[in-house]
Amino acid sequence: MSRIAYVNGSYVHHASAAVHVEDRGYQFADAVYEVVAVLNGKILDMEPHLARLSRSLQSLQIAMPMSDKALSVVLNEVKRQNRLRNGILYFQVSRGVAAREHGFPDGSISPSVVVTAKRLNFDAIKEKQKTGISVKTMVETRWARPDIKTVCLLANVLAKAEANKGGATDAWFVDHNGMVTEGTANNAWIIKGSTLITRELSNDILAGITRSSLLEVAEKEGLKIEERSFSVAEAKAADEAFITSTTNFVMPVVSIDGQKIGDGKPGSICQKLIKFYWNYLEN
Ligand code: PDD
Repeated sequence: MSRIAYVNGSYVHHASAAVHVEDRGYQFADAVYEVVAVLNGKILDMEPHLARLSRSLQSLQIAMPMSDKALSVVLNEVKRQNRLRNGILYFQVSRGVAAREHGFPDGSISPSVVVTAKRLNFDAIKEKQKTGISVKTMVETRWARPDIKTVCLLANVLAKAEANKGGATDAWFVDHNGMVTEGTANNAWIIKGSTLITRELSNDILAGITRSSLLEVAEKEGLKIEERSFSVAEAKAADEAFITSTTNFVMPVVSIDGQKIGDGKPGSICQKLIKFYWNYLEN
């Protein structure tokens, strides 16, 4: 748990950290966010996360609240003040505070910025990587721009809850053509033979930073890659499956809708990818 949070220019006790009740992030989900991992005291992939934040803000016509350099100073300071060695930093930028009105005031309000820290036990993730997770497929119910990392996550929250109720770890959204888009907070992948398959970038999915780093790692290791959509049927018939995200890194998926993938255990290519990715992160 964060002990110190950053809110609009001040480092404050987490317990009393607050934004205004008329913050547009609170009222309209008019806000974007990022999550970066901290591993052994180091913030991972800071640059691409800041670049994606900037893209998200631009898409919503919210001004960048401060320079990348200033924001990275704040992130490092929150990390330092919380003595965070392993965990995540969450940062959110909303359009700001204004009397509730759907139309937003033009340039007259300043964005609200919040940063919090959370400890995570990455050994627990490593343990989970040995057994993998299960997913349940579900009709895509999100708005049409999940490529923008907004805090508008209600569909994701409900899908995850429904998956959990049915005994699955997470949900995979499926578009109206029967093709998998992504997980509730992760990108979806399958492996057929020795080829990695993950949906191509478009407005339909978030351009995951882990996705992009893993593509680079996999390419360097000489693995075959296809960036294209795949159906639920193709996923169920795949040899292996996995998800990627900042908090799960590379996590094997061993069952989809109760159907075993491969022999129901993390497959050999996935295990290799996990190893390659830890090497990439730790070096
Ligand atoms: N989620 N797709 C969605 C919908 C996501 O929310 C995320 C990340 C990803 C993976 O992106 P990345 O590799 O950059 O973490 C894909 C974060 C971790 C979250 O909401 O907590």
